[in-house]
Amino acid sequence: MTTAIQSYLPDDKASATARAVTEVVGGLRGSQILAIATAVRGLIGEGRKVCNLTVGDFDPAIFPVPSLLVKETQAALERGETNYPPSDGLPVLRRAIADMYSRDLGLDYGADGVVVCSGARPVLYATWRLFTNPGDKTVSFLPAWNVGYYAHLCQTDHHFIRTAPETNFFPTVQQVKEALPGARLIVMNSPLNPTGTVIDPEVLRGIAQAIVDENRSRGDAPPCMLMWDAVYWQLTKDEYPFHSPVQLVPEVAPYVVHIDAISKGFAATGMRVGWAVLPPYLQPKMKALIGHMGAWAGRPEQIATAALLNNTEAVAEYNRWIKSEINARLDVLYTGILSMKARGLPVDAIEPQGAIYLSFRVNLEGKTNESIRAMLLEEAGVAVVPFQAFDLGEDSGWFRISIGTVTTDELAPMLARLETAIHNVSEA
Ligand SMILES: Cc1ncc(COP(=O)(O)O)c(C=O)c1O
Repeated sequence: MTTAIQSYLPDDKASATARAVTEVVGGLRGSQILAIATAVRGLIGEGRKVCNLTVGDFDPAIFPVPSLLVKETQAALERGETNYPPSDGLPVLRRAIADMYSRDLGLDYGADGVVVCSGARPVLYATWRLFTNPGDKTVSFLPAWNVGYYAHLCQTDHHFIRTAPETNFFPTVQQVKEALPGARLIVMNSPLNPTGTVIDPEVLRGIAQAIVDENRSRGDAPPCMLMWDAVYWQLTKDEYPFHSPVQLVPEVAPYVVHIDAISKGFAATGMRVGWAVLPPYLQPKMKALIGHMGAWAGRPEQIATAALLNNTEAVAEYNRWIKSEINARLDVLYTGILSMKARGLPVDAIEPQGAIYLSFRVNLEGKTNESIRAMLLEEAGVAVVPFQAFDLGEDSGWFRISIGTVTTDELAPMLARLETAIHNVSEA
């Protein structure tokens, strides 16, 4: 006999949920980006033609992962590599990651400075847990991806600091200096989601030095840590190379946790292999957290990732290919939007420098971002994400365009529809 569970459940599920879960979890907002993406899928399901520029993911038919990754994962599975991996990752992968950091970034952490987990998120969350107590001051900059959720989960006294398009949406050294007193954790990301911009190394050097100075002045009091979210570090334009703050100011090393993954650089979002690179003396605590969360990456995927990272030729070839595909899309969009601007339309964009994103502005007096988003979707069949989804509350007219699921053939007709729709509303 089977029990029909539904008949035993409360009718009013929303209030039953609110009674059952903790206040913190009850107050957790759902992802706005995913909500928009669901609405877009609904329209596509109705047969509407939509160019979906919303998700920070890749369509595997357009951006397949490196074939070596597939082959090695399959081979590991077939060999029976199916038991628990160590909770900080297989030694062969930790070594491969340490070698890559040494080879490509000139940073020698050794395998003891690496914790592997299932994508970037678990080490990101673990970094919050490692360094913050409820009520501690934490700092991040707007716009940015998902920081608010983690600050809420950890119940910190979180300070969001607004940045400007003139600084490519990165903070100035002065803004960081003003935010530092009392802070336990600063969260930064470059190349930046949602803007597709890369921080100026001189600004990053100033920020790193400010953190060193602040922590020296604290003596034995807890330091301010820097979470350096580098998940897009391999996806920069050649003119805007990635930097770790530790490369620029080595004295900042005790305070920096790098967050990284194969998710973006190898378009492998669903394979769930990520890692932190951090001072080796802090590694055991990060390992303990990840172990208790059980947030390990699968053993076959770990073995395959090690084989990939150790094959520098395969990595370089894939990196050249994916960057040329990404840039082909971002450059067409950027120049297309600038041509519209030159023709007098109220649009703007910031030169794409890294990641898979473009900052796009539609500046329509008196219109909210939400109404512009809905208009672009309805009138032009173009789905984009407003910067409000990245915690920037105001109606700035800025949107994120993401190119991970579009073909180059879609771009010209999409730009034409966009121009017509914006022309029509700005004339109305
Ligand atoms: C800036 C940034 N950090 C971290 C992540 C999470 O990556 P993962 O999918 O590996 O958990 C993302 C995903 O979109 C991201 O954009």
